[in-house]
Amino acid sequence: MARILITSALPYINGIKHLGNLVGSQLPADLYARYMRARGHEVLFLCATDEHGTPAELAAAKTGEPVADYCARLHAEQSRLAEGFRLSFDKYGRSSSPQNHALTQHFAGRLWEAGLIEERTESQVYSNADGRFLPDRYIEGTCPNCGYERARGDQCENCTKQLDPTDLIDPRSAISGSTDLEVRETKHLYLLQSKMRGALNDWIDGTTDWPILTTSIARKWLNDGEGLQDRGITRDLSWGVPVRRGTEPWPGMEGKVFYVWFDAPIEYIACAAEWAEEQGLPDAAWERWWRTERGADDVRYVQFMGKDNVPFHTLSFPVTILGSGEDWKLVDYIKAFNYLNYDGGQFSTSQGRGVFMDQALEILPADYWRWWLLSHAPETGDSEFTWENFQSSVNKDLADVLGNFVSRVTKFCRSKFGEAVPEGEYGAAEEALIEDLARRLAAYQGHLEAIEVRKAAAELRAIWVAGNEYLQAAAPWAAFKEDPARAAATIRLSLNLIRFYALISRPFVPDAADIMLRALRAPDAEWPEDVSAALRALPAGHAFDVPDVLFRKIADDERAEWQQRFSGDR
Ligand code: MF3
Ligand code: ZN
Repeated sequence: MARILITSALPYINGIKHLGNLVGSQLPADLYARYMRARGHEVLFLCATDEHGTPAELAAAKTGEPVADYCARLHAEQSRLAEGFRLSFDKYGRSSSPQNHALTQHFAGRLWEAGLIEERTESQVYSNADGRFLPDRYIEGTCPNCGYERARGDQCENCTKQLDPTDLIDPRSAISGSTDLEVRETKHLYLLQSKMRGALNDWIDGTTDWPILTTSIARKWLNDGEGLQDRGITRDLSWGVPVRRGTEPWPGMEGKVFYVWFDAPIEYIACAAEWAEEQGLPDAAWERWWRTERGADDVRYVQFMGKDNVPFHTLSFPVTILGSGEDWKLVDYIKAFNYLNYDGGQFSTSQGRGVFMDQALEILPADYWRWWLLSHAPETGDSEFTWENFQSSVNKDLADVLGNFVSRVTKFCRSKFGEAVPEGEYGAAEEALIEDLARRLAAYQGHLEAIEVRKAAAELRAIWVAGNEYLQAAAPWAAFKEDPARAAATIRLSLNLIRFYALISRPFVPDAADIMLRALRAPDAEWPEDVSAALRALPAGHAFDVPDVLFRKIADDERAEWQQRFSGDR
């Protein structure tokens, strides 16, 4: 049994996330967490809202709420939706937590002592029209690296390059659009990332098993020299972690806060502390996940994120960790995702284009979305949501293959043998199926262990199909008249197969799996590693109930209506 620490990139607090955000991090992280727990490993699965910085301030300004109230409200909303999607976080924390304040200040103090933070008087963009300094996201302009015209002051969305606001060409205020900007002097802290180049290179060189999407982005920024430029880690904002050196004030930095990308990843650690506090556990309980000298050396730490987050997780955050000189755990494996597009374009919050998490749950239960999103996860390249594809996946995979199998078998059994598992000897057909399933289960497990989400979904679907084909060939409805014992054996196996399906499908479709297990009156069972034993688990005479329809089909007119409703051109 291993210990596995899993984190999903922290969603920004400002607003409800869309399905592309969900599949780019939280949902695959949940799949992995559920699978690893089912295999008996000890899992700590953490996520939190990323609450500081300009996006939060801008969004609160829009609704007119004080930013702290806005964040509390949106955190509650995001938590509710996470539960709705059955995201099984051990803790959904907040980067604004006292734990994160203390840890962020602690790290800053350590980095200062290690000579990795420097005070610099810098030129900062001041907007005369807005009457204020404009930090990162308050400025837009052209990316000096790729020429993208709507790059933000902190990062270019197009080429993923991390930027400083003064790097932008033709900058303008994101608040007013004004180009009446001037540069004024103010003091800020800089993290001397370049001093850590050697340590980072050694670390990344030592990670042989990382996906290419991750290492290529990391190496690109590490080796072209620009990715490791010293980074400003303070901002002139009121909402955030006040700049302190550990518990001491930082002279000259009054009124400033740490840059959101400095404190956000530290919340991965602070979130474990929040979890321990909520559980009433001592600090040692979270430190064994995070401090190598307190046991975290045995932990496998896996991070999930969208590809635009990779530089921050392979360079910036490791600089904080390594630079502290303390025994903090470094990530062991990073799983990064491309983007999910929406029906021929992009998801757009401002245009209301695409399906957002709250809307998704209003129209269909979580499992429908979980299945489609995971089976189409943007792993090897960007992928696209279309309503046709969604409808056909739901109708075929979930309703026709899995759902239909369950209802056919349970109903047929009820009408011919009653609501209990019939007596019946397995023969050659059953043994052949067991052998096939054993091979497929091994492949499925391999894909889940490797976090190959699409391959795992495809194998799971193949396992469902194999059961259907077996049932179709055995045709108990026909065999029943001449050879009722044969039909009984088929049904005995098929009922056991439902239990088997429930157990292995649970990481993808947890609600349906629970309905199946409840119908079979099969208590929470262990992972069915041994297929032959698993398909004999429910003995003859074991009572069951016929469940309600597991998955309903999506009709053409509904599909058309949703397509229209979420198209964004209203
Ligand atoms: N909020 C960021 C985004 O959505 C991700 C932050 S991840 C963290 O892109 F590690 F910094 F927390
Ligand atoms: Zn760019």
